[in-house]
Amino acid sequence: MQIACKECGKTYTLPDDRLPHGKVVSFPCPACKSKITLDLREPAKEDASDGDRLVFKPLNEESESQLTSDDMKKKIIKRINDLPPMPKVLFKARQVLSDPNSSFKDISKIIETDQAIAAKILKVANSAYYGLSGMVSSIHQASVVLGYQTLEQVITMVSSASMLGQQLKGYCLNAGGLWKHSLATALASRLIALKRAPSMENDAFSVGLIHDAGKLALDPYIAKHRKAIDRYLKDVSPSFLSAEHHILGFDHTEIAQDLCQKWKLPDSQAAAMRFHHCPEKSEDNQLAHIVHLANYVACLAGFGGGPGFTDLPVSPASLEFMVLKTATLEELAAQVASSVEEITATLS
Ligand SMILES: [Fe+2]
Ligand SMILES: [Fe+2]
Repeated sequence: MQIACKECGKTYTLPDDRLPHGKVVSFPCPACKSKITLDLREPAKEDASDGDRLVFKPLNEESESQLTSDDMKKKIIKRINDLPPMPKVLFKARQVLSDPNSSFKDISKIIETDQAIAAKILKVANSAYYGLSGMVSSIHQASVVLGYQTLEQVITMVSSASMLGQQLKGYCLNAGGLWKHSLATALASRLIALKRAPSMENDAFSVGLIHDAGKLALDPYIAKHRKAIDRYLKDVSPSFLSAEHHILGFDHTEIAQDLCQKWKLPDSQAAAMRFHHCPEKSEDNQLAHIVHLANYVACLAGFGGGPGFTDLPVSPASLEFMVLKTATLEELAAQVASSVEEITATLS
């Protein structure tokens, strides 16, 4: 049986025949000493660790049929809590970046403890998108040339790429489909923030990147109910969001809000994820309006969030709130389209 420490993300393989099945056991993580609890009273859970990818598998048919939508949501969230957090080095790097007393030396020291991640960060920093083609050869140099804000965006991008790159069968998104939609939304969020709320540049980029992470959690359930969803989309409403609600009792934005708690993101970011399809309900959360408009730009750029999510209308409330016209969003879409291909090619 493979397990992962929720605190440090370290994974361990335990011999099945030596486990006290039928009991709940706790022991300290050998790496970080945090308490790891194993509930062996239920049938063995699927292996939840796959590098830094999130892997969700549906509940078995018998148990699922007995669940209310509230119980099912709790089960999905519980499984989210079983998953490994982002790689420790990236988590630490983001902590250091948010410390005003930290230095470029501190951040490079942390990133360089993981050579695979350091290499990816250098590749992206040297891409044409950041205009530094071949100019930087060390993390220290990259952090000085790019600056803290941009370095944080690159770190967020690198840490999410494989998680968002997986295929989502339920949502009919091929491998890389959700990644390109998410990256397009992140880049557009950043551009919108730079126009109207420059201090929110980094938050807008981060939330844009993970705004649809709830789809990762729901995909196996959507896949399982795909026929019912198709019937709903054909006979009742073309809105996939309504179909999620009708079939499961909740949608991917509600699950995304719970993911934010696991990732310890601020409430304003969680609210932006929750309301990215209905920003007018967000009580003037500026991030929600930005990500909503950016999601629209991503679709215009040809990177929709899957069938049923590509032709969603733009909210007039968001255009008014951010003082933007649809013509401006169309211009942004052209910029975003080429950047997505460029960055994706660099990372692959
Ligand atoms: Fe969405
Ligand atoms: Fe989206």
